[in-house]
Amino acid sequence: MGEEFIHVAGIVGSLRRDSYNRWLLRAAQQEAPPTLRIAELGLEGIPLYNPDGASPPPPAVQQLKTALYAADAVIIATPEYNHSIPGVLKNALDWLSVPPEENPLEGKPVAIIGATTGNFGTLRAQLHLRQVLSYFNADVLNRPEVLVARAKEKFGPDGTLQDELTRALLRQLLQELALRVWRRRFLSALEQH
Ligand SMILES: Cc1cc2nc3c(=O)[nH]c(=O)nc-3n(C[C@H](O)[C@H](O)[C@H](O)COP(=O)(O)O)c2cc1C
Repeated sequence: MGEEFIHVAGIVGSLRRDSYNRWLLRAAQQEAPPTLRIAELGLEGIPLYNPDGASPPPPAVQQLKTALYAADAVIIATPEYNHSIPGVLKNALDWLSVPPEENPLEGKPVAIIGATTGNFGTLRAQLHLRQVLSYFNADVLNRPEVLVARAKEKFGPDGTLQDELTRALLRQLLQELALRVWRRRFLSALEQH
């Protein structure tokens, strides 16, 4: 309850250096209120999930899990690949789902955002991501929807998001995320009394 800051873990479903989704997460970092900090957790180094030899998990997976347990909330910036989420993101989520009794996303507020060069703003990928997150019983925000279509027109060459509407939506989304974290802290404080 007494914690002043809200720590948000940022996940980008793209390994590309100049990823629009990484730039979108950066815009969210810029729009965050002063008490909300977003730290990106990299998916580089996470091997393909293979149940043979999955326990104990490799260090990159253990690091990701530990950071997610420590975070108050999560924001996932997903590209759309073939009308779904990229394999890189799905693979990371598969790792996080095992063993089932260790679930760093249980009840955790999760916001979804996404950018694409296409016309539909990652809508289909975001719907698939919601379905996958339902396994984790995460507290996934429904709105506002942050769907960045035609990303080439919305970011400057240095990666700055130049679309004011999207910036406003990111601010709204982060406010909602903060509200969910406060509610969770309040409920867990009540439980302790
Ligand atoms: C294999 C592949 C499949 C793609 N499929 C879609 C798609 O179904 N819908 C879409 O809007 N964009 C699609 N794209 C375009 C991506 O949205 C675009 O490459 C985007 O920049 C990827 O995100 P990033 O910049 O964060 O890496 C696809 C790109 C790749 C490489």
